[in-house]
Amino acid sequence: MKHIFRKGTDVHAPVLLLLHGTGGNEHSLLSLAEEVSPTSSVLSVRGNILENGMPRFFRRLAEGVFDEEDLVFRTKELYDFIQSSAKQYEFDAKNVVAIGYSNGANIAASVLYHFQDALKAAILHHPMVPLRNITLPILSGTKVFIGAGTNDPICSPEETEELEKVLLEAKASVTVHWETYGHQLTRSEVNAASKWYKEQFSL
Ligand code: MLT
Repeated sequence: MKHIFRKGTDVHAPVLLLLHGTGGNEHSLLSLAEEVSPTSSVLSVRGNILENGMPRFFRRLAEGVFDEEDLVFRTKELYDFIQSSAKQYEFDAKNVVAIGYSNGANIAASVLYHFQDALKAAILHHPMVPLRNITLPILSGTKVFIGAGTNDPICSPEETEELEKVLLEAKASVTVHWETYGHQLTRSEVNAASKWYKEQFSL
């Protein structure tokens, strides 16, 4: 997958896996990594799908309607890419924290839904429920921050609550941060995610 890898100054800090929203690329979220954990290595990935010229991580049939077969395939592809990158760049594949926005948050959530040890933690900005009717792995020890908007037209508050419930049932530790805005990533949400990360990893 097309990506950027930047080695951090602290080799023990979690590696940040950055996953952009629709129409973004591997450059879009680099500034978030700087804020959340400036000493971390960064693996920032570009989604392999193009929708009218806009990169994405998996196909959709319509806005908010996912091509589930492709989502499952692309989730495995991303998981395999994390494993092969860990070998190539010599980092611990079990020390990865995802930061995803929108479509990137959705594939990060799908990684959590499919793979037990793939992510140590995940910051999900405006995620949806990636799939339904699937049994999640046990996610005890996995920490999840969900940033949501009470007026998000793409991801309704009910959908956020459903995602929280499903992750809690899988024994993940989940924090939901609400903004009163829509689908956009606001400054205060970024600050809240950054504060949450620092609390989780005692920085
Ligand atoms: C998706 O397709 O993943 C969601 O609708 C969010 C987005 O617009 O990217």
